[in-house]
Amino acid sequence: MEKYIFVLGRDNELSILELTSFLEARNINFDVEYRDDQYVVVSLERFDFSIREFGGITKIAKVILENINNEEIEYELNRITFDYGNKIRYSINGDNFLRDYFKERFKHEGVKAYLKSDVSRPSDSLRLDFEILRVKNFIGRIIQVSNPEEYKKRDEKRPRFDEKRVISIRLAKILINISKAKTEILDPFCGTGTILQEALLKHMDAIGVDKDAKDAEMNLKWLAVNFDIKNKYKLVNGDARELSKYIDKTECVVTEPYLGPFMKEGYNKELVLRLKEELTRLYRDFLCEADKIVRGRIVLIAPVFKIKRDFVKLDMNDILRNTKFSAYKSEYGKIPVIYSPHRTRLIREIWILERFK
Ligand SMILES: C[S@@+](CC[C@H](N)C(=O)[O-])C[C@H]1O[C@@H](n2cnc3c(N)ncnc32)[C@H](O)[C@@H]1O
Repeated sequence: MEKYIFVLGRDNELSILELTSFLEARNINFDVEYRDDQYVVVSLERFDFSIREFGGITKIAKVILENINNEEIEYELNRITFDYGNKIRYSINGDNFLRDYFKERFKHEGVKAYLKSDVSRPSDSLRLDFEILRVKNFIGRIIQVSNPEEYKKRDEKRPRFDEKRVISIRLAKILINISKAKTEILDPFCGTGTILQEALLKHMDAIGVDKDAKDAEMNLKWLAVNFDIKNKYKLVNGDARELSKYIDKTECVVTEPYLGPFMKEGYNKELVLRLKEELTRLYRDFLCEADKIVRGRIVLIAPVFKIKRDFVKLDMNDILRNTKFSAYKSEYGKIPVIYSPHRTRLIREIWILERFK
Protein backbone atom coordinates (compact mmCIF):
# COMPACT_ATOMS: atom_id res chain seq x y z
CA MET A 1 0.00 0.00 0.00
CA GLU A 2 1.30 3.46 -0.83
CA LYS A 3 1.49 6.15 1.80
CA TYR A 4 0.19 9.71 1.68
CA ILE A 5 0.50 12.72 3.96
CA PHE A 6 -2.72 14.71 4.39
CA VAL A 7 -2.25 18.27 5.61
CA LEU A 8 -5.21 19.12 7.82
CA GLY A 9 -7.09 22.40 7.74
CA ARG A 10 -7.80 24.69 10.67
CA ASP A 11 -10.28 22.35 12.36
CA ASN A 12 -8.01 19.35 12.49
CA GLU A 13 -10.34 17.12 14.53
CA LEU A 14 -13.09 17.55 11.97
CA SER A 15 -10.64 17.10 9.12
CA ILE A 16 -9.46 13.71 10.33
CA LEU A 17 -13.04 12.57 10.83
CA GLU A 18 -13.80 13.81 7.34
CA LEU A 19 -10.86 11.92 5.83
CA THR A 20 -11.53 8.62 7.62
CA SER A 21 -15.31 8.78 6.94
CA PHE A 22 -14.62 9.54 3.28
CA LEU A 23 -12.30 6.52 2.94
CA GLU A 24 -14.74 4.26 4.79
CA ALA A 25 -17.68 5.39 2.63
CA ARG A 26 -15.68 4.52 -0.48
CA ASN A 27 -14.53 1.17 0.89
CA ILE A 28 -10.87 2.17 0.55
CA ASN A 29 -8.79 0.15 3.03
CA PHE A 30 -6.42 2.33 5.01
CA ASP A 31 -4.13 2.42 8.05
CA VAL A 32 -3.28 5.56 9.94
CA GLU A 33 0.52 5.43 10.30
CA TYR A 34 0.98 8.71 12.12
CA ARG A 35 -1.09 11.71 13.15
CA ASP A 36 -0.71 14.98 14.96
CA ASP A 37 -2.59 18.29 14.94
CA GLN A 38 -1.39 19.18 11.45
CA TYR A 39 -0.77 15.98 9.56
CA VAL A 40 -2.11 12.47 9.07
CA VAL A 41 0.00 9.86 7.31
CA VAL A 42 -2.14 7.09 5.86
CA SER A 43 -1.33 3.99 3.86
CA LEU A 44 -4.01 3.56 1.23
CA GLU A 45 -5.16 0.63 -0.79
CA ARG A 46 -5.84 3.00 -3.68
CA PHE A 47 -5.75 6.72 -4.39
CA ASP A 48 -8.40 7.60 -6.94
CA PHE A 49 -9.86 10.83 -5.64
CA SER A 50 -9.18 14.54 -5.69
CA ILE A 51 -8.51 17.02 -2.90
CA ARG A 52 -11.50 18.95 -4.30
CA GLU A 53 -13.78 16.40 -2.69
CA PHE A 54 -12.72 17.56 0.79
CA GLY A 55 -13.47 20.66 2.82
CA GLY A 56 -10.82 20.19 5.49
CA ILE A 57 -7.71 18.96 3.69
CA THR A 58 -5.34 21.64 2.39
CA LYS A 59 -2.60 19.55 0.74
CA ILE A 60 -1.84 15.95 -0.09
CA ALA A 61 1.71 14.61 -0.46
CA LYS A 62 2.74 11.21 -1.74
CA VAL A 63 5.39 9.64 0.47
CA ILE A 64 8.54 9.10 -1.59
CA LEU A 65 10.66 7.70 1.16
CA GLU A 66 10.56 6.79 4.78
CA ASN A 67 13.70 7.19 6.81
CA ILE A 68 15.26 9.14 9.62
CA ASN A 69 18.90 8.65 8.83
CA ASN A 70 20.17 11.59 6.75
CA GLU A 71 22.88 9.58 4.98
CA GLU A 72 20.38 7.01 3.84
CA ILE A 73 17.91 9.73 2.85
CA GLU A 74 20.57 11.30 0.64
CA TYR A 75 21.38 7.94 -0.92
CA GLU A 76 17.72 7.16 -1.57
CA LEU A 77 16.89 10.64 -2.90
CA ASN A 78 19.77 10.39 -5.35
CA ARG A 79 18.10 7.32 -6.82
CA ILE A 80 14.83 9.19 -7.48
CA THR A 81 14.35 11.09 -10.74
CA PHE A 82 12.02 14.06 -10.42
CA ASP A 83 10.11 15.50 -13.36
CA TYR A 84 10.69 19.22 -12.72
CA GLY A 85 11.75 21.52 -15.53
CA ASN A 86 14.89 23.63 -15.64
CA LYS A 87 13.36 26.72 -14.09
CA ILE A 88 11.26 26.15 -11.01
CA ARG A 89 9.84 27.65 -7.86
CA TYR A 90 10.04 25.28 -4.96
CA SER A 91 9.68 24.85 -1.26
CA ILE A 92 11.10 22.35 1.19
CA ASN A 93 8.98 22.10 4.28
CA GLY A 94 11.14 20.09 6.58
CA ASP A 95 14.62 20.59 7.91
CA ASN A 96 17.90 22.18 6.90
CA PHE A 97 19.30 18.89 5.73
CA LEU A 98 16.65 18.52 3.04
CA ARG A 99 16.86 22.18 2.10
CA ASP A 100 20.65 21.91 1.63
CA TYR A 101 20.30 18.64 -0.26
CA PHE A 102 17.91 20.10 -2.85
CA LYS A 103 19.85 23.36 -3.18
CA GLU A 104 22.95 21.35 -4.05
CA ARG A 105 21.02 19.03 -6.31
CA PHE A 106 19.45 21.84 -8.33
CA LYS A 107 22.86 23.49 -8.70
CA HIS A 108 24.39 20.23 -9.82
CA GLU A 109 21.57 19.59 -12.33
CA GLY A 110 21.69 23.16 -13.68
CA VAL A 111 18.10 23.90 -12.59
CA LYS A 112 17.29 27.55 -11.94
CA ALA A 113 15.39 27.07 -8.70
CA TYR A 114 13.76 29.80 -6.61
CA LEU A 115 13.06 28.89 -3.01
CA LYS A 116 9.82 30.05 -1.38
CA SER A 117 10.33 29.69 2.33
CA ASP A 118 6.81 30.14 3.75
CA VAL A 119 4.05 28.18 2.06
CA SER A 120 1.69 27.79 4.98
CA ARG A 121 -1.20 29.10 2.83
CA PRO A 122 -2.43 26.81 0.06
CA SER A 123 -2.52 29.77 -2.34
CA ASP A 124 1.30 30.00 -2.02
CA SER A 125 1.67 26.30 -2.68
CA LEU A 126 -0.45 26.55 -5.81
CA ARG A 127 2.23 28.69 -7.43
CA LEU A 128 5.01 26.15 -6.88
CA ASP A 129 6.41 23.57 -9.28
CA PHE A 130 7.96 21.37 -6.65
CA GLU A 131 7.21 21.02 -2.94
CA ILE A 132 8.63 18.58 -0.44
CA LEU A 133 7.21 17.96 3.00
CA ARG A 134 8.80 16.07 5.86
CA VAL A 135 6.64 14.75 8.68
CA LYS A 136 8.55 12.66 11.21
CA ASN A 137 10.30 9.97 9.14
CA PHE A 138 8.02 10.41 6.13
CA ILE A 139 9.22 12.50 3.20
CA GLY A 140 6.57 13.32 0.63
CA ARG A 141 6.14 15.30 -2.55
CA ILE A 142 3.03 17.48 -2.64
CA ILE A 143 0.74 16.21 -5.39
CA GLN A 144 -2.49 18.16 -4.75
CA VAL A 145 -3.32 21.52 -3.15
CA SER A 146 -6.78 22.88 -2.31
CA ASN A 147 -7.91 26.08 -3.96
CA PRO A 148 -10.39 28.05 -1.81
CA GLU A 149 -10.76 30.62 -4.63
CA GLU A 150 -12.79 27.99 -6.46
CA TYR A 151 -15.52 28.23 -3.80
CA LYS A 152 -15.87 31.97 -4.02
CA LYS A 153 -18.11 31.99 -7.07
CA ARG A 154 -20.61 29.55 -5.70
CA ASP A 155 -20.54 31.17 -2.29
CA GLU A 156 -20.71 34.93 -2.57
CA LYS A 157 -22.17 35.16 -6.09
CA ARG A 158 -25.32 33.14 -5.44
CA PRO A 159 -28.52 35.21 -5.34
CA ARG A 160 -29.10 34.68 -1.62
CA PHE A 161 -26.00 35.06 0.52
CA ASP A 162 -25.67 36.47 4.00
CA GLU A 163 -22.30 35.82 5.56
CA LYS A 164 -23.75 35.82 9.05
CA ARG A 165 -26.45 33.27 8.33
CA VAL A 166 -24.91 30.73 6.04
CA ILE A 167 -22.69 27.80 6.90
CA SER A 168 -19.33 27.95 5.12
CA ILE A 169 -18.81 25.85 2.02
CA ARG A 170 -15.79 24.29 3.66
CA LEU A 171 -17.84 23.15 6.67
CA ALA A 172 -20.74 21.95 4.48
CA LYS A 173 -18.32 19.73 2.52
CA ILE A 174 -16.75 18.37 5.70
CA LEU A 175 -20.14 17.50 7.22
CA ILE A 176 -21.36 15.81 4.03
CA ASN A 177 -18.22 13.65 3.93
CA ILE A 178 -18.62 12.82 7.61
CA SER A 179 -22.19 11.64 6.93
CA LYS A 180 -20.80 8.91 4.62
CA ALA A 181 -23.81 9.49 2.35
CA LYS A 182 -23.54 7.86 -1.05
CA THR A 183 -26.69 8.94 -2.86
CA GLU A 184 -28.81 11.48 -0.97
CA ILE A 185 -28.71 14.21 1.68
CA LEU A 186 -31.64 15.71 3.55
CA ASP A 187 -31.25 19.10 5.23
CA PRO A 188 -34.40 19.77 7.27
CA PHE A 189 -33.36 23.36 8.13
CA CYS A 190 -31.88 24.17 4.73
CA GLY A 191 -31.92 28.01 4.88
CA THR A 192 -30.15 29.28 1.77
CA GLY A 193 -29.36 25.70 0.72
CA THR A 194 -25.57 25.60 1.20
CA ILE A 195 -25.51 21.95 2.28
CA LEU A 196 -27.90 20.95 -0.55
CA GLN A 197 -25.76 22.80 -3.08
CA GLU A 198 -22.60 20.99 -1.99
CA ALA A 199 -24.42 17.63 -2.02
CA LEU A 200 -25.58 18.28 -5.61
CA LEU A 201 -22.04 19.23 -6.63
CA LYS A 202 -20.89 15.92 -5.13
CA HIS A 203 -23.36 14.15 -7.42
CA MET A 204 -25.92 13.31 -4.77
CA ASP A 205 -29.65 14.01 -4.69
CA ALA A 206 -30.71 16.69 -2.22
CA ILE A 207 -33.88 17.30 -0.23
CA GLY A 208 -34.36 20.53 1.68
CA VAL A 209 -37.03 21.52 4.16
CA ASP A 210 -37.37 24.99 5.67
CA LYS A 211 -40.13 27.09 7.18
CA ASP A 212 -39.34 29.37 4.28
CA ALA A 213 -37.52 27.59 1.46
CA LYS A 214 -37.54 30.45 -1.05
CA ASP A 215 -33.88 31.42 -0.53
CA ALA A 216 -32.83 27.84 -1.22
CA GLU A 217 -35.17 27.77 -4.23
CA MET A 218 -33.48 30.81 -5.77
CA ASN A 219 -29.97 29.57 -5.01
CA LEU A 220 -30.48 26.07 -6.36
CA LYS A 221 -32.08 27.38 -9.55
CA TRP A 222 -29.02 29.58 -10.01
CA LEU A 223 -26.73 26.64 -9.27
CA ALA A 224 -28.41 24.49 -11.91
CA VAL A 225 -27.86 27.22 -14.51
CA ASN A 226 -24.25 27.94 -13.60
CA PHE A 227 -22.87 24.50 -12.75
CA ASP A 228 -23.11 21.06 -14.25
CA ILE A 229 -25.74 19.51 -11.97
CA LYS A 230 -27.05 16.11 -12.95
CA ASN A 231 -28.82 15.06 -9.75
CA LYS A 232 -32.26 16.06 -8.59
CA TYR A 233 -33.37 18.18 -5.71
CA LYS A 234 -36.64 18.70 -3.92
CA LEU A 235 -37.56 21.61 -1.67
CA VAL A 236 -40.40 21.69 0.83
CA ASN A 237 -41.83 24.70 2.61
CA GLY A 238 -42.45 22.89 5.86
CA ASP A 239 -41.64 22.17 9.45
CA ALA A 240 -38.68 19.97 10.46
CA ARG A 241 -40.85 18.69 13.32
CA GLU A 242 -43.13 17.04 10.76
CA LEU A 243 -40.55 15.52 8.43
CA SER A 244 -42.29 12.18 7.99
CA LYS A 245 -45.26 14.03 6.42
CA TYR A 246 -43.11 15.01 3.43
CA ILE A 247 -40.46 12.27 3.18
CA ASP A 248 -40.81 8.47 3.44
CA LYS A 249 -37.20 7.41 3.70
CA THR A 250 -33.82 9.05 3.22
CA GLU A 251 -30.18 8.06 3.49
CA CYS A 252 -28.56 10.76 5.66
CA VAL A 253 -29.29 14.06 7.34
CA VAL A 254 -26.74 16.85 7.38
CA THR A 255 -28.02 20.03 8.95
CA GLU A 256 -27.43 23.20 10.86
CA PRO A 257 -30.77 23.70 12.63
CA TYR A 258 -32.05 26.93 14.03
CA LEU A 259 -29.48 28.08 16.62
CA GLY A 260 -31.38 30.99 18.12
CA PRO A 261 -31.52 34.65 17.05
CA PHE A 262 -28.39 36.38 15.79
CA MET A 263 -27.11 38.42 18.76
CA LYS A 264 -24.89 41.36 18.03
CA GLU A 265 -24.43 42.27 21.66
CA GLY A 266 -23.77 38.80 23.10
CA TYR A 267 -26.00 36.58 25.20
CA ASN A 268 -27.45 37.12 28.65
CA LYS A 269 -28.26 34.29 31.01
CA GLU A 270 -32.03 34.70 31.07
CA LEU A 271 -32.30 34.69 27.27
CA VAL A 272 -29.95 31.73 26.95
CA LEU A 273 -31.90 29.61 29.43
CA ARG A 274 -35.14 30.36 27.57
CA LEU A 275 -33.45 29.56 24.27
CA LYS A 276 -32.08 26.32 25.65
CA GLU A 277 -35.61 25.18 26.51
CA GLU A 278 -36.98 26.26 23.14
CA LEU A 279 -34.16 24.59 21.19
CA THR A 280 -34.30 21.42 23.29
CA ARG A 281 -37.97 21.03 22.26
CA LEU A 282 -37.20 21.80 18.62
CA TYR A 283 -34.23 19.39 18.40
CA ARG A 284 -36.15 16.65 20.24
CA ASP A 285 -39.21 16.91 17.98
CA PHE A 286 -37.09 17.07 14.83
CA LEU A 287 -34.93 14.09 15.85
CA CYS A 288 -38.00 11.97 16.74
CA GLU A 289 -39.23 12.60 13.20
CA ALA A 290 -35.80 11.94 11.67
CA ASP A 291 -35.79 8.64 13.57
CA LYS A 292 -38.76 7.52 11.44
CA ILE A 293 -37.13 8.17 8.07
CA VAL A 294 -33.30 8.21 8.23
CA ARG A 295 -31.33 5.01 7.58
CA GLY A 296 -27.75 6.27 7.82
CA ARG A 297 -25.98 8.96 9.79
CA ILE A 298 -27.33 12.24 11.09
CA VAL A 299 -24.67 14.93 11.23
CA LEU A 300 -25.91 18.00 13.00
CA ILE A 301 -24.79 21.20 14.60
CA ALA A 302 -25.87 22.28 18.07
CA PRO A 303 -25.17 25.64 19.67
CA VAL A 304 -23.04 26.32 22.74
CA PHE A 305 -23.76 29.69 24.31
CA LYS A 306 -21.01 31.47 26.18
CA ILE A 307 -22.03 33.75 29.01
CA LYS A 308 -18.99 35.28 30.65
CA ARG A 309 -17.07 32.17 31.74
CA ASP A 310 -20.02 29.76 31.57
CA PHE A 311 -21.00 27.55 28.67
CA VAL A 312 -24.63 26.55 28.18
CA LYS A 313 -25.34 23.66 25.81
CA LEU A 314 -28.13 21.30 24.88
CA ASP A 315 -28.26 17.91 26.59
CA MET A 316 -28.07 15.82 23.42
CA ASN A 317 -28.19 12.45 25.17
CA ASP A 318 -31.44 13.44 26.82
CA ILE A 319 -32.79 14.85 23.54
CA LEU A 320 -32.06 11.49 21.85
CA ARG A 321 -33.68 9.45 24.64
CA ASN A 322 -36.78 8.52 22.64
CA THR A 323 -34.95 7.78 19.40
CA LYS A 324 -32.82 4.89 18.19
CA PHE A 325 -29.91 7.21 17.51
CA SER A 326 -26.88 7.82 19.68
CA ALA A 327 -23.56 9.61 19.34
CA TYR A 328 -21.09 7.75 17.16
CA LYS A 329 -17.94 6.70 19.00
CA SER A 330 -14.96 7.27 16.76
CA GLU A 331 -11.42 6.03 17.27
CA TYR A 332 -10.25 9.21 15.52
CA GLY A 333 -11.73 11.81 17.85
CA LYS A 334 -14.24 12.60 20.54
CA ILE A 335 -17.82 13.36 19.50
CA PRO A 336 -19.13 16.04 19.65
CA VAL A 337 -16.36 18.04 18.03
CA ILE A 338 -16.22 21.68 19.05
CA TYR A 339 -16.24 24.08 16.12
CA SER A 340 -15.50 27.68 16.90
CA PRO A 341 -14.54 29.77 13.89
CA HIS A 342 -12.75 33.06 14.39
CA ARG A 343 -14.81 36.17 15.01
CA THR A 344 -18.04 34.40 15.98
CA ARG A 345 -19.46 34.46 19.45
CA LEU A 346 -21.47 31.33 18.94
CA ILE A 347 -19.62 28.09 19.47
CA ARG A 348 -20.96 25.00 17.73
CA GLU A 349 -20.87 21.32 18.56
CA ILE A 350 -20.76 18.89 15.67
CA TRP A 351 -22.63 15.69 16.46
CA ILE A 352 -22.43 12.47 14.47
CA LEU A 353 -25.37 10.21 15.25
CA GLU A 354 -25.85 6.60 14.24
CA ARG A 355 -28.61 4.07 14.75
CA PHE A 356 -27.90 1.64 17.55
CA LYS A 357 -30.81 -0.71 16.64
C1 LIG B 1 -29.14 28.38 10.88
S1 LIG B 1 -30.27 28.48 9.59
C2 LIG B 1 -29.63 27.37 8.40
C3 LIG B 1 -28.63 28.04 7.50
C4 LIG B 1 -28.14 27.14 6.40
N1 LIG B 1 -27.22 26.14 6.89
C5 LIG B 1 -27.48 27.97 5.29
O1 LIG B 1 -26.32 27.75 4.93
O2 LIG B 1 -28.16 28.86 4.77
C6 LIG B 1 -31.66 27.69 10.23
C7 LIG B 1 -32.88 27.64 9.33
O3 LIG B 1 -33.89 26.89 10.00
C8 LIG B 1 -35.16 27.39 9.60
N2 LIG B 1 -36.13 26.90 10.60
C9 LIG B 1 -36.32 27.33 11.88
N3 LIG B 1 -37.25 26.57 12.48
C10 LIG B 1 -37.65 25.63 11.59
C11 LIG B 1 -38.56 24.54 11.62
N4 LIG B 1 -39.26 24.26 12.72
N5 LIG B 1 -38.70 23.78 10.52
C12 LIG B 1 -37.99 24.05 9.40
N6 LIG B 1 -37.11 25.07 9.30
C13 LIG B 1 -36.95 25.85 10.37
C14 LIG B 1 -34.97 28.88 9.48
O4 LIG B 1 -35.92 29.42 8.58
C15 LIG B 1 -33.52 28.95 8.96
O5 LIG B 1 -33.51 29.09 7.57
